[in-house]
Amino acid sequence: MIDALIFDSGVGGLSVSAAIRRRMPWLPLGYVCDNAALPYGTKDDAWLVARIVAVCESACRQARPRALVIACNTASTLALEALRARLSIPVIGTVPAIKPAAETTRSRTIGVLATRATVRRPYLDRLIDDHARGCRVIRVAADALVIEAERLLKGQAVDPARVREAIAPLRAAEEIDAVVLGCTHFPLLHDYLEPLLPSGVHWIDSGAAIARRLESVLWGDSAPADRPALAAAAEAEERAIPSPDTNSWATAASAPGLASALMRFGYAPPAMLEIASPAVAVHVS
Ligand code: DGL
Repeated sequence: MIDALIFDSGVGGLSVSAAIRRRMPWLPLGYVCDNAALPYGTKDDAWLVARIVAVCESACRQARPRALVIACNTASTLALEALRARLSIPVIGTVPAIKPAAETTRSRTIGVLATRATVRRPYLDRLIDDHARGCRVIRVAADALVIEAERLLKGQAVDPARVREAIAPLRAAEEIDAVVLGCTHFPLLHDYLEPLLPSGVHWIDSGAAIARRLESVLWGDSAPADRPALAAAAEAEERAIPSPDTNSWATAASAPGLASALMRFGYAPPAMLEIASPAVAVHVS
């Protein structure tokens, strides 16, 4: 049985998976990535909504999870409504952690590092309006970091010059003391990013908040100490229903380095996820 299926365009959702495992090490997880369409951040919105819905529907049919975690800001800020309308299980999204950043900053200057798509979305405007009104928010489209994080997890060398160049606008704004990592790939590059800004800067991602939200969606008011036993009991009850024979899926399952990246985060090598809808074939982007 898979309690929560984690979805991203690529390996970025593994940063969220790690946060969920830190909080609930006993929780059976599945992982699905749409790596045939990676990167999402540079693609057309209407096509992306249809593609994300098709991939998630197909993945949920295979994995039969109790909840779906969209571990992708680019997908969540665009397609959460469409996903919730189509799926009958709870869908938990990932959106840039503007509120915690606004609560943390003393200089009232926040950086937001995200994909080109996320930085221009009305969803981000609303988050800033609602939670960071008195702050100066510097938005930086850093799509190059998605590629560098993919390289890192697949055992290839990261290019430090590309990382430095991608965050140059933040380096120019000296008063920044909080940076929102508004793409789930970016926490994977923490060791490369952190030395590039002064040591007092807070780097804030959404992983821990998503893990808390998932715990409350799955276990509601039950006492935290009882939850592993409740999970085991639910699993025993569902034994009659055949479980999927893997716990990870990808739309380009044989991509070099992907299986070893997934295995390092506790998943089996990926099975190929077939997408039924020809309208969202990758070449349409
Ligand atoms: N990891 C994704 C996010 O959080 C996006 C990466 C991509 O552009 O595909 O936005």
